[in-house]
Amino acid sequence: MAITKLNTYQPLTEQSATALAIGLRIFEDGTLLTCEEIGDGNLNLVFRVLERETGKGIIIKQALPYAKVVGESWPLTIERARIEASALKLQRSFVGDLVPEVYYSDPTLAITVMEDLSALTIARAGLIKGEKYPRLSHDVGTFLANTLYFTSDYALHPFKKKEYVKEFSNPELCKITEDLVFTDPFFNSETNEFEEELSRDVQHLWDDFTLKLEVAKLKKSFLTEGEALLHGDLHTGSIFVDQNQTKVIDPEFAFYGPIGFDIGQFIANLIFQAASKTDEGETILYHIENTWNVFSTAFSRHWKESGDAYTKVNGYLEYVLEKSFQDSIGFAGCECIRRTIGLAHVEDLDAIPDKERRLQAKRTCLTLGKELIIKRKQIHSIEELLSVIKFHFE
Ligand SMILES: Nc1ncnc2c1ncn2[C@@H]1O[C@H](COP(=O)(O)OP(=O)(O)OP(=O)(O)O)[C@@H](O)[C@H]1O
Ligand SMILES: [Mg+2]
Repeated sequence: MAITKLNTYQPLTEQSATALAIGLRIFEDGTLLTCEEIGDGNLNLVFRVLERETGKGIIIKQALPYAKVVGESWPLTIERARIEASALKLQRSFVGDLVPEVYYSDPTLAITVMEDLSALTIARAGLIKGEKYPRLSHDVGTFLANTLYFTSDYALHPFKKKEYVKEFSNPELCKITEDLVFTDPFFNSETNEFEEELSRDVQHLWDDFTLKLEVAKLKKSFLTEGEALLHGDLHTGSIFVDQNQTKVIDPEFAFYGPIGFDIGQFIANLIFQAASKTDEGETILYHIENTWNVFSTAFSRHWKESGDAYTKVNGYLEYVLEKSFQDSIGFAGCECIRRTIGLAHVEDLDAIPDKERRLQAKRTCLTLGKELIIKRKQIHSIEELLSVIKFHFE
């Protein structure tokens, strides 16, 4: 079909997305296809092309040259589609089915054609409804250990590592994180959004220079420590699940950064669940504990199976794990704060119907977030972290 031969970018429509699927010969000739734009995210178009007779589908995700949710006044590079497709392929080589299969990608059209996961549920939506996903933390812990270890200097030849650093240089998307996670929520910035009743709590944060200094250190780590290829946006809205499987999607923020960042973002998004629930807190706390335990066990196993001369030096693995653990706690704290008062909120908190309970949950996320940031270096084990979290929910 013509569109597969285009050498200039154009946004797809449901019609041209169908034509693209036909041109790619993913479906049998002459088969009846339907197409729908199903994207509910902030940035991109997501088309689902479906074979009517069999129900077989594919997903075509396309980056727009701006952020979809804001419009053309917020231009954003379509390079993110190339990064997303490359990251998915690389991650799949380390984690297999924990990420969707990519059938085709084209950086000019900024598209990724991938496995249709519509039979699964976005973890955030399922957890809000009270669904249980017994595999979630085991699978995410494995995803974290494999993707972070095998893209790091501990595993890769230095030339390969630097090639990846170049390939996954992602300045525009990193800038979004730098602003929205690490800067804006800690200052009186226009992008912030919070309920008026939280004004005093927010003012306290803005006045807290000890907190700001610690966030500055975490931001510096995010800016400068190119340790491993991060997913970059590992919240529960980027994870599809059911009872038996887990698939991590949407790595358009991928870049080389500190190992603790992905772990911290995932833990914080579990914390929102715990904050939003009056019961079932134990299941969520178990997932937090298990994520770290699975991550650290698998990461240590990979470390011992390969690595250079220094990886054999006593205490080095423990140093790397402890640093990653404390960074994770600090990054989790930043995520707790920014999702409560920054630009991009989470349904877990915003959808709590009772106002008093909602404000209470948000205040808990703010005070817990602050404590995680400030005390991260005094928390030495996952059990201690769980005690700190539990204390705030009592
Ligand atoms: N492989 C897939 N299979 C089925 N549905 C998908 C798939 N990928 C994305 N979707 C649907 O499209 C939605 C948006 O996808 P995604 O999060 O990748 O888009 P985005 O524009 O990058 O969003 P965000 O604002 O979260 O960055 C998902 O929540 C899901 O409903
Ligand atoms: Mg995205």
